[in-house]
Amino acid sequence: MKDATTWEKVDEYVTERVIPFDGVMEKVLSNNRQAELPDIAVSPAQGKWLNVIVQIKGAKRILELGTLGGYSTIWMARAMGTDGRLITLELDPHHAETAKANIAVAGLEDRVDIRVGNALEQLEQLSKEETEPFDLIFIDADKPNNPNYLRWALHFSRPGTVIIVDNVIRDGEVIDHHSTDPRVHGVRKFFDILSTELRLTGTALQTVGSKGYDGFYIGVVVSAD
Ligand SMILES: C[S@@+](CC[C@H](N)C(=O)[O-])C[C@H]1O[C@@H](n2cnc3c(N)ncnc32)[C@H](O)[C@@H]1O
Repeated sequence: MKDATTWEKVDEYVTERVIPFDGVMEKVLSNNRQAELPDIAVSPAQGKWLNVIVQIKGAKRILELGTLGGYSTIWMARAMGTDGRLITLELDPHHAETAKANIAVAGLEDRVDIRVGNALEQLEQLSKEETEPFDLIFIDADKPNNPNYLRWALHFSRPGTVIIVDNVIRDGEVIDHHSTDPRVHGVRKFFDILSTELRLTGTALQTVGSKGYDGFYIGVVVSAD
């Protein structure tokens, strides 16, 4: 069986071949390090994967929960074209400030709206604004709230909306029903909801790479009610 060192080396091998050198992304990652943000952004290969999904979907309206330094935000926003709009929600003002600067580095400030505050409150506010449904929603904030975020994601969806959720495998801990980790609980509850949720069809894929062993859920909304 291959180990984490191999996963990292393979990630590097693939990244070198499918992602041309990108000065903007290098700068964004170095800004994140300088700002001492936690090293929990998606990997380059995962960011590119999100970018490709946005292109396949032709998404023009994107909602992201959990901005950090805007790394995944930039990967997605770049793919939606100049007429796209992305709203990203972030609790921590320091993360949001860093993301704001990074989004300016990427020249995307006219398309990306960072909203600072608790995502649940921000989602409530968004609902009051009677915002149009989104084409794609990426959930990557605090994991204990994944069940709530899934409910909100469905609220902001229409048939065809793509919903992606990061970190749903958690080093395999997702199958540990004795786990006391609230993040694992959040993910398990999220899967319980999925098991009876008829408005959404999707799957989860386990991933290994520079970010260890984890996985993404990806689904598409098939009916509004
Ligand atoms: C995994 S990081 C996001 C990574 C980012 N999507 C990327 O790949 O570049 C999770 C982010 O969610 C934020 N967060 C945590 N709890 C939150 C909440 N209740 N509301 C909004 N954001 C929250 C954290 O501050 C952190 O920046």
